Order: sequence, then structure tokens, then C-alpha cells
Amino acid sequence: MARLSRRTFLIGSGTAATAAVLAGCTDDEPAASDGAGRSAAPSDASAFDPADWASVRDQFPLTRDLAHFSAFVLAAPPRQVGAALDLHRRGLDEDTLGYLVQNEGDLERAVLDSAASYLGAENADIALTDSTTMGLGLVYGGLRLRANQQVLTTEHDFFSTHESLRLAAARSGATISRVSLYDEPATASADEIVARLMAGVTPATRVVAVTWVHSGTGVKLPINAISAAPADLNAGRAEDDRALLCVDGVHAVGVEDATVDELGCDVLVSGTHKWLFGPRGTGIVWANQAAWTAIDAVIPPFDVVSFEAWLDSTAAPTTLGGLTRTPGGFHTFEYRWALSEAFQFHLGIGKAEVAERTHTQATQLKEGLAGIDGVRVVTPQAAEISSGVVCLAFDSLDPLTAVGDLLTAGYGAGLTAYRTGYMRVEPSIVTTPDEVDGLVAAIADLL
Ligand SMILES: Cc1ncc(COP(=O)(O)O)c(C=O)c1O
Repeated sequence: MARLSRRTFLIGSGTAATAAVLAGCTDDEPAASDGAGRSAAPSDASAFDPADWASVRDQFPLTRDLAHFSAFVLAAPPRQVGAALDLHRRGLDEDTLGYLVQNEGDLERAVLDSAASYLGAENADIALTDSTTMGLGLVYGGLRLRANQQVLTTEHDFFSTHESLRLAAARSGATISRVSLYDEPATASADEIVARLMAGVTPATRVVAVTWVHSGTGVKLPINAISAAPADLNAGRAEDDRALLCVDGVHAVGVEDATVDELGCDVLVSGTHKWLFGPRGTGIVWANQAAWTAIDAVIPPFDVVSFEAWLDSTAAPTTLGGLTRTPGGFHTFEYRWALSEAFQFHLGIGKAEVAERTHTQATQLKEGLAGIDGVRVVTPQAAEISSGVVCLAFDSLDPLTAVGDLLTAGYGAGLTAYRTGYMRVEPSIVTTPDEVDGLVAAIADLL
């Protein structure tokens, strides 16, 4: 049988697109449009004013019958993202292979470029995933750990971190150690968090696995202060022994205004279908080059360099961090490609403005609730140690019943998925200060 030409093979396998990514095509406009020049821009896009919060809210098809204080659990994206998704779905439905081959390179590069602008990162350091959980599984599953190494994590992380670490330890023989960073979330302090975490680090610590904003309490970790601390501990360690700071950032990405440089961590994992209001089933992993070097691919990537290595029977590349750790296989591409619109939407409003809007409402909410007898605000008041997640406990109300009653009153709230269950309410760019006042009054009425 005739051997396929390299290009034919790559086109047939759908990896031609990553060739285009690698070649670094230079169109600068990441706007969604297909090969036929159709644009994803909604017809009345000119009516969108990113400086006007009412206009921002108008971009979301979320029903007005409810104030959405749990919109972050799984995002309903703004219509700009929906329009891109529809455009790509139509293209794929009409001529699947043609649309894929013509557009994948540009569209995937646009996603990486947008994510890189948003994070202040290099696009080559970003892998694309389907969720935070997939990203954590890829990082902790792919990290080369030795049996004599330790993974340090905390009591406050979500199931996805704890389980990925448990599986990684079972495979490698590494030990896992967990520390508690605070006793009472409401009185947590940045200094105490850093001190308690660092007290758990030993010469054998290879990974420090933490969560930026705890979804069980609303506490926000001072990641930059934490990342400064292992720098001392890492002094003099061999590259393979360095403690890597790995962060689940899903409840901060889309809220907090920080670049990866400012954070100073080694790995940042996040879904983009919560606070970033991206397409459902999307996420990213960013890692610096040293960290990528320590992480093997878990799922074979569909990038052209890995394919070429396979064809040539040579070793798979370990450089090209993000590209070669992005799981291969064909995906729900319309969702993945529409992700660039979500980053652009946030960048258009401004990261600082989104952070300010979220924090202002969270402070208003916590202050309002603090005055109600029978309600305990679990999340700290101070903005430095909290974000958009606000957790509450009631003296006499069952949180599940309270969530149901609030729903009847027109307020969407949630529950924490941890051993200690709290009610969780989150203001965001789809809620308003008036709705925050309404929510406080509705909670007072419950009591
Ligand atoms: C801290 C934290 N990490 C990860 C997840 C899971 O995110 P994803 O659905 O993107 O996997 C959640 C909740 O959904 C969470 O609260």
C-alpha cells in the first residue's frame, strides 16, 4: 500500500491544524469567522457597551425570572460565545472535514492567543482541556513522582484535586500529606495560611497542591505569598526535587485580576465554564516550562510533532508544553473554538473591572448578611482573603430547604459539596447590587 504523503496523512488525521498552530500563522484577529467569511458577531453586537453593567447583563440569555447567584456552577455563556458556537457548529454540520481542515489551525490558535492574553502567559505554555477536573487529572496523573517524594495538599481542596492526587500516589508510591490552613474560615488570615502550609513542606515535597478560592468556604489563598515561600525552600534543590506549586484556580479565573507572573505558581488549572462564562466543557492548564518538563502527556496529543515522531519511530517530544499535553482525539470543537470569544468578552470589559464588580457585590452581600440574626457568614469579609464565593450557615435552617425557599422567592443559590455543607451564593457579572439587596432581604425573610 502506498505510503500517504506527510501532509495527506496529517490532514486525514485532523492534525494539520496543529501544524498551523505550530507554524504560528500571524493573523492577529481572533474573531470567530469561518472560511466562507461568515462572522459570529451577533447582528446587534454594536449595542453592547462593555463599560455599562446593564449592557453586560443583557448579553446573557439567562432568564430574568431569577437572580442568578449560582450562575458559576456551570456557565450559561453570553450570546457572543453562543453565536461563535452556532457558527462553528453550522460549519461542521455542513462540511465536517472541510471546515475542520480549513479552520482548526486558526481557531485553536485564536483560543490559545486569547487565553494567553488573559493570563499574561505564552500561548505555547497552555493546554486545552474539557474541565478543571480533566486538567487536574492530566497534571497530577502525568507528573513524574518517585516513591520517596511527598505531595502536600490541604483539607480544603475539592474532590477533583484529592482524587487526582490519590490516584497519582497509588501509581507512584509517593505519600500524600494534608494540612489545615485555618480553623474558622471567617477569621482566616493570609499569614497564618502561608505559615501552616509551609510547616507541611519537607525536603521530600515535590508538589504543593492548593486551590486559589475554596469552594467549600469562600477563602481565597494568597497565592503570590505562597509562591514566594517555596522559592526559599527550593534553593539548592535539584530540578527533579523542586517543590512545584500547583493551583486549582477555577473559582478565581474569571474573577481575580492577576497574571500568572503575579501569581508566581508553577501550574494553574482551571475550567473556563464557570466564572469565565465560556462554553460548557472547556478548560485550560497553564504551566511554566520547568513544570511542563516534569509532566508527561497522559492522553496522546494530536499535535503534528508528536504524529511525526510516531511516523518516524522517534521519541515523542517533551518540549512544546501545552500543545503536547493537550489531550488528542476529536473533540466538541465548536465549544472549544468559541472559548476565545469568552476570553475576549472578559478582556473587553476589563479584568480589573470584573474583579471590582464581583468584589463590591460580595462585600455588600456579606455586610448585609452580617446584620441578620441567625445567619453566620462563613467566608471572610476582607477582599484580600475572599473573592466571589460567599458561604453561609444558619442557626436553625437546613441549607437545602433554604435554597428551595430562595428559589421560590426568585433567587438562585447553591450548596457546597463538602462534608460540612453551607449555602453558597455568588455575585458575579450577571447579578446586580439591587439583586444583592433583594437577596439579603429574601434571606432575612426566611428567618
Ligand atoms: C474547587 C473546584 N475545583 C474543581 C471543580 C470542578 O470543576 P470542573 O467542572 O471544571 O471539573 C469544582 C466544582 O465544580 C470546584 O469547586
